[in-house]
Amino acid sequence: MNTIECIKTRRSIRKFLPDPIPQKTIEMLIGVAAWAPSWKNTQTTRYIALTGNEKNAIAEIALGGNNRSITENAPLLIALCSEKHISGCNPDGSYRDRFGTHWESFDSGIACQTLCLAAHDLGIGTVIMGIYDPQKAHEYLKLPESIQVSALIAAGIPAENPDPRPRKDVSELLTFFHE
Ligand SMILES: Cc1cc2nc3c(=O)[nH]c(=O)nc-3n(C[C@H](O)[C@H](O)[C@H](O)COP(=O)(O)O)c2cc1C
Repeated sequence: MNTIECIKTRRSIRKFLPDPIPQKTIEMLIGVAAWAPSWKNTQTTRYIALTGNEKNAIAEIALGGNNRSITENAPLLIALCSEKHISGCNPDGSYRDRFGTHWESFDSGIACQTLCLAAHDLGIGTVIMGIYDPQKAHEYLKLPESIQVSALIAAGIPAENPDPRPRKDVSELLTFFHE
């Protein structure tokens, strides 16, 4: 699969086969995500893999509704975390400018999509979940204050083949600026 095909055929997957994702495959995925660009190559994204009881426990504690059942049904949950006060920051940890936390979120987003595309290339479906209780997820994972949970990603072999969600036309997205 070439890159453009990979980007265009990825879908958010919310139904999975029960087959576990081998540890070696998870390590490979993170090894690919590590190639995501980041602010001054600071590489502040961290990944915590949860399976079995731990995955179901965080689902019960920090997720509700559809996201909880997606996670319970998935063989793997990845908590995509980021080290705070590094990306977009001065050496003393203060934010460089009014962009504030923008760049640390930006780096996490790039890493997140890199991981999802790599997974798709390997036949693994993912869904990025932004609706969860970040405080409860942080507490359950026993993370220090310096690390935040940026997103939760459920993953597994797809048990569905959803139609593509509509995308806006390029004419709506793109303008050419001329003075
Ligand atoms: C930041 C972010 C948060 C999202 N949160 C959720 C979520 O909590 N639950 C869910 O089922 N999907 C979630 N999604 C998936 C989107 O609904 C999905 O990407 C969008 O509808 C486009 O569909 P596609 O990914 O299949 O192209 C999220 C996606 C992003 C990028």
